[in-house]
Amino acid sequence: AALTATGALAQDFPSKPVTFVVPFAAGGPTDKVARDLAEAMRKPLNGQIIVENVAGAGGTLGATKVAKASPDGYTLLVYHIGMATSPALYRNLQYKPLEDFEFVGLVNEVPMTLIGRPSLPAKNYAELSKWLSDNKGKVNLANAGLGAASHLCGLLFQSMTKTEMVTVPYKGTGPAMTDLIGGQVDIMCDQTTNTTGQIEGGKVKAYAVTTTKRLSTPALKNLPTLDESGLKGFDVSIWHGVYAPKGTPKPVLDKLNAALKAALKDGEFIKREEALGAVVVTDDRTSPAGHKKFVEGEINKWGPVIKAAGTYAD
Ligand code: MLT
Repeated sequence: AALTATGALAQDFPSKPVTFVVPFAAGGPTDKVARDLAEAMRKPLNGQIIVENVAGAGGTLGATKVAKASPDGYTLLVYHIGMATSPALYRNLQYKPLEDFEFVGLVNEVPMTLIGRPSLPAKNYAELSKWLSDNKGKVNLANAGLGAASHLCGLLFQSMTKTEMVTVPYKGTGPAMTDLIGGQVDIMCDQTTNTTGQIEGGKVKAYAVTTTKRLSTPALKNLPTLDESGLKGFDVSIWHGVYAPKGTPKPVLDKLNAALKAALKDGEFIKREEALGAVVVTDDRTSPAGHKKFVEGEINKWGPVIKAAGTYAD
């Protein structure tokens, strides 16, 4: 029988709580996905799952912690598109995505929304784009650090609108949202899992969505796409996956993948995701091989885009 790194029998897995490392601050979209997923996986995995937030460096600190964790299946990473964008952004990244992780499966795809502080004078995207060009170089754009989804969306937005903005990084878009609502920053591009409630509650101004099709979520369905608003081809949606350290025994990975697949079919989980504009993955990307192949494609897609933007961190 396969033994885990600590010599425990894989067949007894899990014999203690499993940790989901979330590489951003609590209260943000990654944290939300991880906590909802943990809830839906608990029963099929027949074990406790706890969430630990390890924020910093656009999510790469938390990812590094899991890459170096004991490969026994008890320390997992819930991470988004940053898995594919960070290699092009961080020259001294401490891990190689395709070599230092086992792929447990892809979870969902989440659209993003362009939102502003409640006191922003622009009432719609047309007025916002005029306000942005009248305030070149003075607009504060919040994000969750280099490599974050909010950073990537902001990068594309600035390059397609040819406007330079002042970037204000946070440990996650949870804390960033607090400052946006408070008026400390001007705009942000953030995932619907984090913005739907605030838009419904009238806490922020909402201007557009980043997908090429409008969303059906009631609070978001009247928002135009950036594509139809003049930024032809603007198309960003943020995917989330689950990862284990390289070397985690296959019987353990099989149990984790089976529990993930069961969670993705859980009606309660699907309902929660859809209410927040997210789409649960139902295709082969929920298998380890399909997940890995997809991430490889995303690394090849986003690498050149980011290198062209010339943003690096050492
Ligand atoms: C991001 O912008 O990458 C995420 O929103 C960060 C987070 O989950 O807080």
